[in-house]
Amino acid sequence: MGSLCARAALRGSLCGAGAPGPCLLPRHSSGGPSQTQERTLVAVKPDGVQRRLVGDVIRRFERRGFKLVGMKMLQAPESVLAQHYQDLRREPFYPGLVSYMSSGPVVAMVWQGHNVVRTSRAMIGDTDSAAAAPGTIRGDFSIHISRSGNVIHASDSVEGAQREIRLWFQSGELVDWTDGDHHASIPPA
Ligand code: PPS
Repeated sequence: MGSLCARAALRGSLCGAGAPGPCLLPRHSSGGPSQTQERTLVAVKPDGVQRRLVGDVIRRFERRGFKLVGMKMLQAPESVLAQHYQDLRREPFYPGLVSYMSSGPVVAMVWQGHNVVRTSRAMIGDTDSAAAAPGTIRGDFSIHISRSGNVIHASDSVEGAQREIRLWFQSGELVDWTDGDHHASIPPA
C-alpha cells in the first residue's frame, strides 16, 4: 500500500482462533523463547498472474517458513481497489494504478509468521523496479512500475495488514491450522 500508510513500529492485537487480521498469536515452543505470529496480505498482481509467477511467489514464502492461511483468485472489484489504495487517490498515477489492478485477476494471500510483515516487504523488494535488489521478487521479475507492473503487493505495516486482510477476506476464508506430523519430516534414507 501507499507510503502514506504508517510505517510504524510493528504492533498488533491478540486474537482468537479464526479471527481475521494480522493476529499476533503467542506461540510457545518447548524450552525456547516465546514467538509472536503476525499476518500480512500479499497479492500477486495481474502482470504476475499472467506471467505465471504465482507458484514462484508461493514457493518463496513457503521456503522462508511462513504459513499460508488464506488464498483466492479474484477479479478485484473497483470498490475494493478504491479502499485498498485510498491513501493514493490524489496521486497522478492513481487512475493508472486502479486500471492496471483491474486488468486481470489477482491472487490474494494471507501469510502468517514471525515478523511476516517486515520480512515480506524485504522479500518483494523496492517499489521502483530499477531499485529493487536482485533476489527480491520485484528485483527478479519487475521491469517497469507503471508500464508493465511490479508483480506483487505486500502490506507495509501491521496496522495496514489488518485493514487490508479485512478488506480482501471474510473471516471464514482464513484457516487457522497447526503443523502436524508431516511438517519437516525427514525422508527415509
Ligand atoms: S510502497 O510499496 O508503499 O512502499 O510504495 P509507494 O511508492 O508508496 O507506492 C504505493 C503503491 O503505489 C504504486 N505506485 C505506482 N503505480 C503506478 N505508477 C507509479 N508511478 C507508481 N508509484 C507507486 C506502488 O506499486 C504501490 O502499490 P502496491 O500495490 O502497494 O505495491
